[in-house]
This record gives sequence, C-alpha cells and structure tokens, in this order.
Amino acid sequence: TEPAPYVTQRRFTDMDSSLLAALSSLLLLGLALYLARLALLGKRRRSYPPVAGVMLQQLLNWGRLPEYMTELSRRYGTFRMLTPTCNHVYTVDPANVEYILRTNFANYGKGAMTHDALEDLLGDGIFNVDGAKWRHQRKVASFEFTTRALRDYSSGVFRDMAAELAGIVAAAAAAGERVDMENLFMRSTLDSIFTVGFGVNLGSLSGSNQEGAAFARAFDDASEQSLYRFLDPLWKAKRLLNVSSEAAMRRWVRTIDDFVYAVIDKKIEQMGRDEHEFVRELS
Ligand SMILES: *[C@@H]1O[C@H](CO)[C@@H](O)[C@H](O)[C@H]1NC(C)=O
Repeated sequence: TEPAPYVTQRRFTDMDSSLLAALSSLLLLGLALYLARLALLGKRRRSYPPVAGVMLQQLLNWGRLPEYMTELSRRYGTFRMLTPTCNHVYTVDPANVEYILRTNFANYGKGAMTHDALEDLLGDGIFNVDGAKWRHQRKVASFEFTTRALRDYSSGVFRDMAAELAGIVAAAAAAGERVDMENLFMRSTLDSIFTVGFGVNLGSLSGSNQEGAAFARAFDDASEQSLYRFLDPLWKAKRLLNVSSEAAMRRWVRTIDDFVYAVIDKKIEQMGRDEHEFVRELS
C-alpha cells in the first residue's frame, strides 16, 4: 500500500504574456535584492551546506529513499534539500550530530511544522515537543529508566526478543529462505518496546497475536505516512478531505488507538485487582 508519488505538472506554454512580464520583474527584483545583500554582507556571508537537490527528487525516489539518502550522505556528508517553503538540512557528521543533540540542543526545537506532521501518531510525546513539555517528559522517562528493577526487566526482554529473532533467522537460513531483515528488526524492536512499556507481548515477530500484529502493521504504515507528510505539501488538504493516504492514516491511527487504549484499560483493571488483593492480605 505504497502512496503514489505526487508529481506536479505545469504547462508553461499556456502562460500568458502579462504573467510572464510580472514573473520576470519579480525575478529581477529578487536578483537585485540578492546582489544588494551580497554587497552589504560582503565576506561575512554565512556559509551553508551544499544543495544536494530538491524535495521532488526525494518523492521520485520514495520507493528507495534509504538508498537515495545514503548515496547523498556518502557524497556530501552534510547537505541541504530545497523545498518550496524551506530548506531541510541533513547530516551524518558525528560532530554535527553531537552539536545538535547535545551541545546546542535548545537551539534545535522540533518547531510547528514537525509537530503538526507527527502529532497524529506521536501526540505530545517526548519525541514531538519542545521546551518545558520536553523537560517534563524527559524527567519522567529518566526516572523510569534509572529504576534498577526496570533496567533488569528490560534487559531480560531485549535478550529474549533477540533470541527469538535469531531463531527465526536461523530457521530461514537452514531452509535457504530469504528474509526481510528491516521488517524483522522493526517487529522485534516493537515487541521489545511494547513489552517493556506495557507488559504485553505484541507477538508481531512470531505472529502469535493477531491484534498485536495488526497494531504493528498500522504503526509501521502510520510511521511511513508521517515521514511522507514532510515531502507532500498537500497532506493537510488530504487530511481535511479525508482522502487517499490521509484517509488510510486515519484508519491506522484508529487501529493504534483502539489497541493501546484496550491495553491501558486492561492494565488499570489488573492493577486495581492487585491492589485489592494486597489490601485483603494485609487485613
Ligand atoms: C474518512 O473516510 C473513510 C472512508 O475512506 C470513512 O470510513 C471515515 O468514516 C471517514 N472519516 C471521517 C472523519 O470523515
């Protein structure tokens, strides 16, 4: 269910001459402003990473986006992709990554555009907020993850899931079958995180839990669509009209919500029961 790449096609031949005149004067004005800026700023002009291409190329390479971005990263290290409204900067340089994620983290907020694109899937979760909200969530999360009991528990989960994954790969190797490693890694990670977070095994790796597997698929599809939104200038219109990839997105998010809320309800109920029994044992 891959969304069709969005391609604009314009016929410049039909353009009337007054529009052409307006455009060329705009172009001239732009050029004049650019030259004036160069003259004013002189040599103190900021340097930007090289432009590797435009967003449309990412859309055209949608089916092989990881390979395409890897090629660009190999060639440029740090580079820009131009979009009609802004530039996206990509980097694989560890020094830049450290600067962005650590040294000068406060300067690299998610901003409204990222928040909007990811909100349907991630809500106001830690990966999608800035400032005070981010600090609050980080505090809660770091408290959780420094608990020794949880650390031991999660290590065990990750070990078990790795063993399960190894078993699947070994079986495929013995049978001489091809496997989709990316998909296996995704399901293994999701099973692990979900077990650590909610105490429920999705079973998406083994396929033992049908609802869990449906959730995993919806989560994967919704993640892909969230990424696609960064490249599709029309995604908000599609969501408003509830059509094509955004109609599907609505379904996926509903599948995710239904599953997660059911798990949470069950957990709350179970905790209530445990507490009840604990009190009864004491008295
Ligand atoms: C969106 O469209 C789907 C059909 O594609 C429909 O089932 C759903 O109810 C619609 N949702 C809204 C909020 O209009």
